[in-house]
Amino acid sequence: MHTLEDVNKDRLPQHVAIIMDGNGRWAKQRGKLRVFGHENGVESVRQTVESCAKLQIPFLTLYAFSTENWNRPKIEVDTLMKLLVTALKKELKTLHENNIRLKAIGKMDTLPEKVRKELEEVIFKTSKNTGMTVTLALSYGSREEIKTAVQQIATKVKNNIISPENIDEAVINTHLYAHFLPDVDLLIRTSGECRISNFLLWQIAYAELYFIDVFWPDFREHHLVEAILSYQNRERRFGKTSEQLN
Ligand code: FPP
Repeated sequence: MHTLEDVNKDRLPQHVAIIMDGNGRWAKQRGKLRVFGHENGVESVRQTVESCAKLQIPFLTLYAFSTENWNRPKIEVDTLMKLLVTALKKELKTLHENNIRLKAIGKMDTLPEKVRKELEEVIFKTSKNTGMTVTLALSYGSREEIKTAVQQIATKVKNNIISPENIDEAVINTHLYAHFLPDVDLLIRTSGECRISNFLLWQIAYAELYFIDVFWPDFREHHLVEAILSYQNRERRFGKTSEQLN
């Protein structure tokens, strides 16, 4: 089993994004309710944040709740929201002690008042931290993010604030929820499903994808290490040839 020591610190992904999947199936395997899986998933979140902080990965983004997740049974949605509030309250001190800045992306105005307030408080209180940035994608959907950016840019064109010829990738990027994040280098999805599910579509243009057949509540440091080692063994060509890179 590989450890953090095996990771090449000179070739770290700067931005790791994770689709934390499989909580429900993990619980079902144990004859428990789905929410039991989410409760145990919180520990994987804690450990993964800690491992990334140890490695000094600058950006970690976690898909915690999608726009589509609102369609789940009310009891599950309510439990997830409660878990978030509890985790935020509990982890504020640890985030601070580890110089971690918390951020969020998504449709914040659709979150319950209690979650939004707690989130805003932790984001504010950790805003001056200069270590890793942990971003929670909450009530997030990538198409919705892009649609909102297009609407904002269109309004600016209409009001003569920007001309269509000047709309470039940088302009689009500044209008996205995730405007403060660099492109994703490594995208991990747990649970064995091999799809993106409307997560950071703009930002993963050149990301290395890593799918692992482990349910999120079982995801541990050595799994993260395997993902990073796989990333470090790949040649990222960004459209160039291998010869051009060498
Ligand atoms: C996907 O598993 C997981 C989620 C929709 C929620 C992820 C939330 C947590 C890990 C807990 C709270 C998070 C934080 C940041 C404290 P699934 O329910 O889709 O599993 P399934 O595919 O097996 O049904």
